[in-house]
Amino acid sequence: MRMKRLRSIGWTAVVLGTAALLCSCRTAGLGAGTREAKAKMDVTVESFGQTADGQQVRIYHLTNSNGLKAGIMTYGATVVSLEVPDKNGQLGDIVLGYDNLQAYIRNSPYFGTIVGRYGNRIGKGKFTLDGTEYTLATNNGENHLHGGLKGFDKVVWTDEPVRRSDAVGVKFGYVSKDGEEGYPGTLKGTVTYLLTNKNELRIEYVATTDKPTPVNLTHHGYWNLTGGRRDILEHVLTLNAGKFTPVDKGLIPTGELPAVKGTVMDFTRPTAIGARIESDFEQIKSGGGYDHNWVLNKGGKDMTLAARVYEPTSGRVMEVFTKEPGVQFYSGNFLDGTITGKGGTIYQHRWGFCLETQHYPDSPNKPQFPTTILRPGRKYETATVYRFSVK
Ligand code: GLA
Repeated sequence: MRMKRLRSIGWTAVVLGTAALLCSCRTAGLGAGTREAKAKMDVTVESFGQTADGQQVRIYHLTNSNGLKAGIMTYGATVVSLEVPDKNGQLGDIVLGYDNLQAYIRNSPYFGTIVGRYGNRIGKGKFTLDGTEYTLATNNGENHLHGGLKGFDKVVWTDEPVRRSDAVGVKFGYVSKDGEEGYPGTLKGTVTYLLTNKNELRIEYVATTDKPTPVNLTHHGYWNLTGGRRDILEHVLTLNAGKFTPVDKGLIPTGELPAVKGTVMDFTRPTAIGARIESDFEQIKSGGGYDHNWVLNKGGKDMTLAARVYEPTSGRVMEVFTKEPGVQFYSGNFLDGTITGKGGTIYQHRWGFCLETQHYPDSPNKPQFPTTILRPGRKYETATVYRFSVK
């Protein structure tokens, strides 16, 4: 096993043992406007600190052949930074987050994390499976949200670098024990992030279990295509979705699947996020903005376009493709200016938005929704791609 002293980029570089690396090459410098010059595909890893109980946390730095960069850490399998060019070739970091691990541990509304075992809510933290009722940790009023008190966003994942001909990445692993947060069965999961030379962040999810259990993994990135310069209300969103799942006061789906047509939930045509966000439509008024699951127009389990977002000042475009049947569009309603993020930026109301590809919330209690139950001998396998370009 090769051991390399890694380049320090603001943090203390460390000598890594068996988990180590890959390529010690210096990342080819890609400054503003030098997009034409091919960058060197690269993956490096270094320490990002440690948790209170002494677990070491690492951060991977990925660079694709066009100079896009991602920083992804083992705590929560979290995307800490993602730098993509604007229409002038200027790189900008388009995800919300913090500069250091301790801030993530102290208080993070799931910035850039993987969420599991179940993304979004399970009503009253209860469900019945094969005749047995299970009780989950409740962490959102009377409901279970994003995997409970210590979900997959708050654990340290195992890690290994990935190098493919067209991408660099990192493969994370986590074993969730039988009974963790109330869930049945030992769940073994991997999440692989790839930064491809097509300017995509691709996320591949795999899981197996030894007892039937609900599984619904997602990525909880907060996007701001301006590079965090202002709120996200001018971003123009298109959702490839003709229906949505309305929610009750606790944001639990009612079980209905009404058409979006004629409502402010209709993003089938490009529409600024802020255009109708203050409307009286009861569904968004009660929740303070968009925080709903949209039902994607799709025929099967293939990868299809879920969403497209265009930000006019930077020209940046993000397209989201997924195998999942739904997407949670959350307009950052709970951001209220109390969080100071990367580089001292204060994250004001609606400073980021999320597009969490997923199965519908509360599916374990909604037999009419596509099932989220994984059984022994079966494999949970899904993928989502965030693709970046400019217009
Ligand atoms: C999801 C939920 C929201 C909120 C955010 C994080 O999008 O649906 O209600 O919990 O995550 O704050």
